Amino acid sequence: MKKILITGAFGQLGRALTCELGNEHRLILTDTFIPSDSHGFQLDITDRKLVKEMLPALELDLIINLAAMTDVDGCESNPDKAWIVNSVSVQNLLDFGQCPLIHISSDYVFDGENGPYKEIDDTSPINVYGETKLESEELVWATGERHLVIRTNVVYDYEPTTKASFLKWVVESLQNNKEIHVVTDQYNNPTWASSLAYVIKRCIELHVTGLVHWGDKDYLNRFEFAKQIAKVFGLNQKLIKETTSEALNQLALRPEKGGVDSTVLSAAIGYEPPSLADSLQSIKERFSE
Ligand SMILES: NC(=O)c1ccc[n+]([C@@H]2O[C@H](COP(=O)([O-])OP(=O)(O)OC[C@H]3O[C@@H](n4cnc5c(N)ncnc54)[C@H](OP(=O)(O)O)[C@@H]3O)[C@@H](O)[C@H]2O)c1
Repeated sequence: MKKILITGAFGQLGRALTCELGNEHRLILTDTFIPSDSHGFQLDITDRKLVKEMLPALELDLIINLAAMTDVDGCESNPDKAWIVNSVSVQNLLDFGQCPLIHISSDYVFDGENGPYKEIDDTSPINVYGETKLESEELVWATGERHLVIRTNVVYDYEPTTKASFLKWVVESLQNNKEIHVVTDQYNNPTWASSLAYVIKRCIELHVTGLVHWGDKDYLNRFEFAKQIAKVFGLNQKLIKETTSEALNQLALRPEKGGVDSTVLSAAIGYEPPSLADSLQSIKERFSE
């Protein structure tokens, strides 16, 4: 049993990870805001003084850093904040954690010309979010080789408390008979939060370090992803209309052919990326319980 501190623990991935690790490890859950029905500690990772006071005393075996500014357009309009949350704060954890770090990065470190990407591919971010995630990786490597960086993409789940979730937006819009416009020119391999949580557990068990990629099995565009969601949840697919990134006019540029190739990590941990259809079915069954 390890003593593990999780930052950003009440976000989308944090909730899945808490379920996955909760029975086997002693977890210290931290975030900027602790929901009233949960147990955890407030820890803003940008607060270097607080990180310095809190972390060494805990004598941790591992930190898993999920805290991030994940609003990609928000990062573009407020790059200073994005820089501090996504990059500078990682240095705080590295300086005072006194233990290995598992850090989650993104396929947005790539330009999206040639995805899905392997670990050896050259990085070239095209928006502020991607730049800050790449910088965070470099900070990790500058402090040694005992850490693990997992790049993933389009993490999804259906948690009532999750603020920004593509799955939740599609399901709730279609349930309310609302037409939605979804891009056909952004490709990824969407990753169920539970699949990634299991992968993190296996990486801890097998002491995986270095840089690895994890994304689920199906490589498709956002429009196709929305259609699959509607199909599995029995909602009206005709309400989903095609659009393009140009027409959507999002503030931050998005990689067109993003996504990550999980081949290396899949072989290392003995786990195949699950299919989108199976994952959505599991979420639907859990949701209707
Ligand atoms: N979601 C994706 O598609 C995706 C894709 C690739 C990589 N990732 C990476 O995976 C990790 C987990 O993402 P997620 O999907 O779970 O995102 P999420 O749902 O947005 O969770 C992130 C959590 O971090 C918290 N946080 C923000 N600023 C913080 C700070 N200064 N100190 C402490 N906590 C802070 C957030 O709180 P607030 O909600 O109050 O801000 C939130 O609870 C992140 O590193 C993200 O960059 C995500």
